[in-house]
Amino acid sequence: MSTGSHTEIRELSNDERIFNLYKNVWIGYPGAVAIRDRMEGLLKLPTTHRMPNLALIGESNSGKSMLLNNFFKRHSPDLDPNAEKTVLPVLIVQMPAEPNESRLYGAILHQLFAEPTNRELPASMINRIKVLFRSLEVKMLILDEFNNALAGSYIKQRRFLNGIRYLSNELMIPIVVAGTVEAQRALSSDPQLANRFEPVYLHRWKLDENLIRLLMTFEPTLGLKQKSNLYEQINAENILISSEGLIGDMLMMLRRLAEKAIKDGTEHIEPRWLTKAFLDDFGWVIPSMRMKRAG
Ligand SMILES: Nc1ncnc2c1ncn2[C@@H]1O[C@H](COP(=O)(O)OP(=O)(O)O)[C@@H](O)[C@H]1O
Ligand SMILES: [Mg+2]
Repeated sequence: MSTGSHTEIRELSNDERIFNLYKNVWIGYPGAVAIRDRMEGLLKLPTTHRMPNLALIGESNSGKSMLLNNFFKRHSPDLDPNAEKTVLPVLIVQMPAEPNESRLYGAILHQLFAEPTNRELPASMINRIKVLFRSLEVKMLILDEFNNALAGSYIKQRRFLNGIRYLSNELMIPIVVAGTVEAQRALSSDPQLANRFEPVYLHRWKLDENLIRLLMTFEPTLGLKQKSNLYEQINAENILISSEGLIGDMLMMLRRLAEKAIKDGTEHIEPRWLTKAFLDDFGWVIPSMRMKRAG
C-alpha cells in the first residue's frame, strides 16, 4: 500500500496526503474474494449453447462496481506485453439509462470503439458484436448498473430482458449483471432468465471478525501519523451505526475524519469522532437519511 509507511508519510505534504486519502485501493475481503472466485470459475468454463450467468446483488455503495473493476483489472488486456494480438477477456458495460436493446448493443459497440451507425438495426449490431467478441476473444460480458433495466414500462422491460436472453444465446459467453435486489426481482420475473442468473450477494457489514480485519487493513491506508485503533469494538460498533454497514459509507466517513485529523494536526481519528453526536455536528449524513433527502 503506497500511503502506509511512516517514512513516506513524512515526506508528503498534507495536501498530498489528503489527495492520497481519496484514492480507491481495492481491499480483498473474504465476501468479495469469494464472488470474484466464482467469476474466475465462469471464465474457465467450456463454451456451450447455454452458459451460466451471475447476478451480483447488493445495495448502492456495497462494493459491486469495485469488485467488477478489480476482476476486470485481473484480466486486463495489457497484462502481457509480448502478446501477439489484442485480446479483451472481460468487457464491462454500463447499462444505458433506458431499457432498450438497441441502446444496450450500442453501448457495447461504443465500449469497443465501434460506434453504431445511424439507425443501425439491432440484428446488424448483434452481428458486429459477435464478430468483435470473437476476434478480441471476449470471454465474459459484465453489465453494471443493471437497475436501469427497470426504468420504463413493463412492456419495455420485457422486451429488454428478451434482448439479454438473445445476447446470451448468441454470444455463448457468461454474462454477469450487477444491481440491487430490484434488479434481481426483474430477472426472476422472467421464467427463462430466472434460472440462468444465479444471484450472489454483497451484504451489509456486521460486527464480526471480517469487519475487524477490514478496519485493520484500511486504517494504515489513511496515512495518519498516529494509531486510531478503529478495530476496537466500541469504534467498530460506532462505525457500523453511522455507515449502516455499507462499505462505501464506512470508508468515506473514515476518509473524511482522517482528512480532518490531517488538517487539524490531531493525526489520528479519536473514538469520540465516531459517535453519532459528533458525526451529526461534523455534517455526516447516514445513508438512509441521505436517500430520504434525495427523495
Ligand atoms: N473491496 C473494496 N476495497 C476498497 N474499497 C471498496 C471496496 N468495495 C467498495 N469500496 C468503497 O466503496 C465505494 C462504493 O463502492 P461501489 O463499488 O461503487 O458500490 P456499488 O457499485 O455497489 O454502488 C467505493 O468507491 C470504494 O470507496
Ligand atoms: Mg456501482
